[in-house]
This record gives sequence, C-alpha cells and structure tokens, in this order.
Amino acid sequence: MRKIVVTLTVITSVLIACSPKSSKSSAAPQAAAEAIKGSAKAGATIIKSEKCTKCHKDKSGYVPKHTFEEQEKVILGMAKRAKLSEQETADLIAFVKANAKK
Ligand code: HEC
Repeated sequence: MRKIVVTLTVITSVLIACSPKSSKSSAAPQAAAEAIKGSAKAGATIIKSEKCTKCHKDKSGYVPKHTFEEQEKVILGMAKRAKLSEQETADLIAFVKANAKK
C-alpha cells in the first residue's frame, strides 16, 4: 500500500511539473513580475508611451535621478495605474534597474 501511495505521489508531481503554465494575463503581483525576464529596451518604450504619458509628461528623466530602491515603489504603483501586464511591468522594472542612479 505504501508503495502505491509513493508511486502515485511521484506520478502526480511529474504531471504537475509538466503541465503548461496557467494563464499569463492575470493581475501582476510583484513576485510574479520579478519571475518574468524583463527587457530594458522594451521598458524604455513603455515609459515613453501613452500608457504612462496619458496622465503626465514622459517621466523617463526621473529614473536616473534616483536609486532603484528609492523609486521601486513609485514605479510599481505606476505600473498598476497604467494597468501594465506582468511582462510590461517586468520590462519597466528592467529599464529602471538598468538606468537608476548607482
Ligand atoms: C492614471 C494616471 C497615471 C498613469 C497611467 C501613470 N502615472 Fe505616473 N503619476 C501619476 C500622478 C498623478 C503622479 C504624481 C504627480 C506627478 O508627478 O505628475 C505620478 C507620478 C509619477 C512619478 C513620480 C514623478 C515625480 O516627479 O515625483 C513617476 C516616476 C511616474 N509617475 C512614472 C510613471 C510611469 C513609468 C508610468 C507608466 C507605467 C506612469 N507613471 C503612469 C499618474 C499616473
């Protein structure tokens, strides 16, 4: 009996590990955004795009004036306001990381 249970457990975990990842379009919690690889180049486009400039002027000049730690919260909050996807948020974060004050 124990052997059967162990075997079933192994099979189940293999099946779970191999099943395709669930929907990408869900809301973007910070942890999920960090698990996705962001592109700084794509992020540079986003920060200058209408997604961000519909409320205020292009804020890309703000990024190099502050360290990443100083602006992380603001940027994540803005990503929510702009309703960025997880991928877009990861791109924006990659851009900020690459260009923040060192
Ligand atoms: C729904 C409106 C809205 C959207 C969309 C939005 N912002 Fe903002 N953002 C604001 C407001 C309001 C402020 C505070 C006033 C200001 O600085 O203009 C602000 C402030 C900021 C600041 C701080 C600037 C400072 O001088 O202190 C940054 C940086 C910023 N936004 C970046 C972004 C980025 C990047 C995006 C796109 C992902 C974005 N925002 C999208 C409304 C928005």
